Amino acid sequence: MDPLVALAEFETQALAAIAGAANAAALEQVRIEYLGKKQGKLKDLQALLGKVPPDQRPAIGKRFNEVRDAVTTAWEQRHQALQQPQRAATAIDLTLPGTPMQLGRLHPLTQTIREFREIMARFGFEVVDGPELEDEWHNFDALNIPLDHPARDPLDNFYLSAACTASGKPVLMRSQTSTVQVRVMEHRRPPVRIVSIGRVYRPDDIDRTHHVMFHQMEGLMVGHDVTMASLKSVLGMFAAAYLGGDTEVRFRPSFFPFTEPSVEVDVRWKDGWLELGGAGMVDPNELVAVGYDPEEVSGFAFGLGIARFCMLRHGIDDIRLLYENDVRFLRQF
Ligand code: PHE
Repeated sequence: MDPLVALAEFETQALAAIAGAANAAALEQVRIEYLGKKQGKLKDLQALLGKVPPDQRPAIGKRFNEVRDAVTTAWEQRHQALQQPQRAATAIDLTLPGTPMQLGRLHPLTQTIREFREIMARFGFEVVDGPELEDEWHNFDALNIPLDHPARDPLDNFYLSAACTASGKPVLMRSQTSTVQVRVMEHRRPPVRIVSIGRVYRPDDIDRTHHVMFHQMEGLMVGHDVTMASLKSVLGMFAAAYLGGDTEVRFRPSFFPFTEPSVEVDVRWKDGWLELGGAGMVDPNELVAVGYDPEEVSGFAFGLGIARFCMLRHGIDDIRLLYENDVRFLRQF
């Protein structure tokens, strides 16, 4: 056989055998068969080389060396590869469905609060915060609530027995966000245009519409020529922005110590009217209490229940659901 053909054949077969060796033992068999020093096929080829005419010997000898080196290198690489730890038998199955990611979401009340802030900001109202733990001055006195007023009854408020103000006065969990009206006016000169959204606390029997803790949005606008008409237009725009373009707002005469005149605010809903909160023109006594001149400026204030809006929007019929934090309920929003 032509030595060059024999070499080519040897190379092809040896490389295929090396590639096909599945483990170290099989590879060792390949080594003995092809590269073995005593009886291997390479040894046979070497013997063949001896019979080649001398003038062809350099060329065939060079080819022999090339083939031997290529096969030896391939064998060593395969040997190396088989030494590597075996890959885990279970590969990734790309057709399996993935593990769904649990996405968190905002509490429906938080969503409502953010939307309220955004709407009121559009109307030019700044959002401010106030403390939930209050003294009687901000919760009652400055709001023109006299000492003998039933709203001050300890049974109608969460007074703290273990704490008091620096000057030894009682403290309570605020029963209304109107406290923030006072806090803002104490530190600013008119004009003032703010809203404040937060929790208020009142001892109450808990049922579908009442809780001992709930959220209010307080609004306050003080300046020159602020009137009842300004109040009605701001509340009307607000209700329309949140509940829909044609939502109607109605005022009913009422009484609050810190507004004069005072009204209850209703919104038309389905076949009837729903009460949203209280409002009115800031009482001159409150303006005096914070150092404003009632002859110079006037203002309106309102306090709306937040949960009511949220429940209307989402068709929730029990306020307790909003404060129980059952994820099966919360996941729906
Ligand atoms: N603070 C009153 C309440 O909690 C609501 C209110 C706010 C009324 C502002 C008038 C003006 O019932």
